[in-house]
Amino acid sequence: MGKRIVSGIKPTGTLTLGNYIGAIKQFVKLQKNRKEDEFFLFVADMHAITTRQVPAELRKRTLDIAAMYLACGLEKERTVLFIQSEIKEHVELGYILQSNTYMGELERMTQYKDKSIKQDTSITSSLFTYPALMAADILLYDADYVPVGEDQKQHLELTRDIANRFNNFYGDFFTVPEPLIPEVGARIMDLQEPNKKMSKSDEFDKGYISLFDDEAAIKRKIRSAVTDSLAKINYDPINQPGLANLITIFASIKDLEIAQIVEKYQNSTYQTFKEDLAQALVDTLIPIQKRYQELIKSQELQDILDQGKAIAGEYAFKKMRKCKQKIGLGRK
Ligand code: AMP
Ligand code: TRP
Repeated sequence: MGKRIVSGIKPTGTLTLGNYIGAIKQFVKLQKNRKEDEFFLFVADMHAITTRQVPAELRKRTLDIAAMYLACGLEKERTVLFIQSEIKEHVELGYILQSNTYMGELERMTQYKDKSIKQDTSITSSLFTYPALMAADILLYDADYVPVGEDQKQHLELTRDIANRFNNFYGDFFTVPEPLIPEVGARIMDLQEPNKKMSKSDEFDKGYISLFDDEAAIKRKIRSAVTDSLAKINYDPINQPGLANLITIFASIKDLEIAQIVEKYQNSTYQTFKEDLAQALVDTLIPIQKRYQELIKSQELQDILDQGKAIAGEYAFKKMRKCKQKIGLGRK
């Protein structure tokens, strides 16, 4: 029997190389290798509004992500691609799952802790309850696997706990999902501060590569990426974190092992290594951008999203009807 694979990306900031390597590239690879499986992918716009968003930008980014998923190589015939806010059951189930989640569990979420330290005032209550909505995104479709980067592991563990708790109380109902975290590239680091995750909400654009960066920007950012003064190509995340991150990016982009990259460049200078890496990134990203440009204005993208909405919506509707029956909500 085929499995169901579910994942999403929030439309905040620009899409980065971290999103591509940690998440999107994984979906594409899984889809190639797992012909039996079903893929549900969505743009998590409801998650985006946990922090303040400019309406026109939010809408633009939502479509950008949908187009980028396809431009990166997802097969449209095998992907149920949709926008989270267009399926109202996410929020409905999110509330029910909040009622099965403890304050202490949410307080322990490191992503919430990090974000709330940065913002300190004006933290919304939805930023706090966000993991319950994320659990709903996953459990609504009975996902077997959820491909994500390392930063989402804790949210996935909580999703499993919530599913098990619900199943124990109400009887088996939700599939308990498993995270799929890539072996190489689960945590791409900032190019300027390699002890920090590469993130799209960063203020300095030298630290990340956007999937929309042009050739000149890609080359400039790789050239100026922080390395070290050891002048030896070697994979050592503790003593050479900047270089280790670049090696990881290279291996992931080329679908090679880290050791293969190290071996190839062991006698090269950092400059040669960086030039080859920048070229590999250009060769990967520029064709993706061309496909994105064709898709973003197309009727095809709209049709794919309409179809995704219909398929996901039907599944969600049925699951929620049963869920309410289980809990004793409503008349029947
Ligand atoms: P977000 O942009 O926060 O919605 O994240 C979307 C997906 O990209 C999630 O699966 C994240 O784990 C993944 N991701 C985001 N940043 C990185 C990064 N720096 N390295 C690896 N994966 C990442
Ligand atoms: N919270 C995820 C992030 O910030 C995005 C997301 C929302 C997600 N719902 C999801 C990922 C469901 C996987 C499955 O990266």
